[in-house]
Amino acid sequence: FVYIIDFGGQYSQLIARRVRESGVFCEIITYDEALEKIKQNSPKGIIFSGGPNSVYEKNSPKVDAEIFTLGIPILGICYGDQLIAQSLGGKVDKAKVREYGNTLVKFDVSSLLFKGLKEEGICWMSHTDEVVKLPEGFKIIASSDNCKIAGMEDEKRRIYGLQFHPEVYHTQFGREIIKNFLFNVCKLKGNWNMSSFIDEKIKHIREVVGDKKAICALSGGVDSSVAAVLAYKALGDNLTCIFVDHGFLRLNEAEEIYNIFKEKFNMNIIMIDAKERFLIRLKGVCEPEKKRKIIGEEFIRIFEEASSKIEGAEFLVQGTIYPDVVESGTKTSATIKTHHNVGGLPKDLKFKLIEPLRELFKDEVREVGRKLSLPEELISRQPFPGPGLAIRVLGEVTEEKLNILRHADFIFREEIKKAGLDKGIWQYFAVLPDIKSVGVMGDERTYAHTIVLRAVESVDGMTCDWFRIPYDVLSKISSRIVNEVKGVNRVVYDITSKPPATIEWE
Ligand code: XMP
Repeated sequence: FVYIIDFGGQYSQLIARRVRESGVFCEIITYDEALEKIKQNSPKGIIFSGGPNSVYEKNSPKVDAEIFTLGIPILGICYGDQLIAQSLGGKVDKAKVREYGNTLVKFDVSSLLFKGLKEEGICWMSHTDEVVKLPEGFKIIASSDNCKIAGMEDEKRRIYGLQFHPEVYHTQFGREIIKNFLFNVCKLKGNWNMSSFIDEKIKHIREVVGDKKAICALSGGVDSSVAAVLAYKALGDNLTCIFVDHGFLRLNEAEEIYNIFKEKFNMNIIMIDAKERFLIRLKGVCEPEKKRKIIGEEFIRIFEEASSKIEGAEFLVQGTIYPDVVESGTKTSATIKTHHNVGGLPKDLKFKLIEPLRELFKDEVREVGRKLSLPEELISRQPFPGPGLAIRVLGEVTEEKLNILRHADFIFREEIKKAGLDKGIWQYFAVLPDIKSVGVMGDERTYAHTIVLRAVESVDGMTCDWFRIPYDVLSKISSRIVNEVKGVNRVVYDITSKPPATIEWE
């Protein structure tokens, strides 16, 4: 496997993607923990990422120079390239001409890094600094018109540096360059894939848990479902899943989840009907953050009660995935919303944690799920917030409002599916705002609820644009909702992007 040392570059995750696509397992680590981890775990290769700093600034991130003496191949990209140069006695300075974007680079194809490539290719550059003097033992292996040392190598020490970014899509031969580093320089085999990942994890979970017992908080979301089935393959009846039905799920959702895990997989699953408890706690509560806090706390309390009844359980399986790990490590941003994940339990629970998906990206988790024969509807499910419909019923949450919303949401989803749009929209759902308006049905005046439809395109939920649902589909949804859902006389469509709005209304 390979370590990627992150110096704060915007493409560090992309490097990890490319490495894994090549069939090599990798992990991103921070520069200050790098030396210790490398010595402990002996990777076959190390990649230094790019970063926003200048290596000659006083407080710029550095690594312990011992890393260069361990005999492990290193590839530095952009900032990483400059750091290698500076650390080994070369010189880095402001570039005379800054380069951004597509740049023609000439390669020395006798270098292992460029083996089998054409002699030149378009590469993605983005830098203000450059290496102006090579460290001893290095030679130039790539150049552009404005950057003489666009690539360098010390073949003997197996240390390579590139000023451009081979990991980005726009770099011609980028994938080949990364593969050359992995296969020709590091001599890796490239046989890591999801099946080997599953086998390794099952073995590992068995070793750790032995004949003890484990529990798992199941939410029906992709991550916790995949983690649960993976742990089940390892532990069988020594695993018990706990599913807390807080009453804020979509129509039929609790039954569907139960059927999958009980009927299809025959797993031990305890369903806890806590609908009333949550509603009582939320009585009279309108403020969104307060709602989220109450739901989060109540969930933990119920989970603790249920888990304490399972005798001998020492381990807790959680569906933490790689972006959760990375984000919680670097997050400095203000709290816009407290995200509550069912399964996102506090660390001070008395259990030892097992997080089998910790190293995986979302689409890799989905692939594992498919290999474990989880149904496709569950795997390609749209994101659904932990507090569920409670944050889509604006203002006070009541049983009656939940039922109205559930019904409208079901119609919305059904029509989107019928129109063949379900695969193309990132997230779509109904919201019940805390207003009533006047309408007319038959010859009667009505004074009833409004339903808001929200459908967005997004990649990661951080930003989004509203989805352009065709008018005729919207029209069908609207007339079905007002006709079929009692208590609703108006349907509106949310046409706001994020920012300035958020995806959810609370
Ligand atoms: P916002 O509303 O912040 O949502 O733009 C971004 C994405 O996160 C989901 N979301 C949540 N997911 N627990 C979750 O697991 C939560 O508390 C939560 N709140 C929002 C939201 O559905 C969207 O996909």
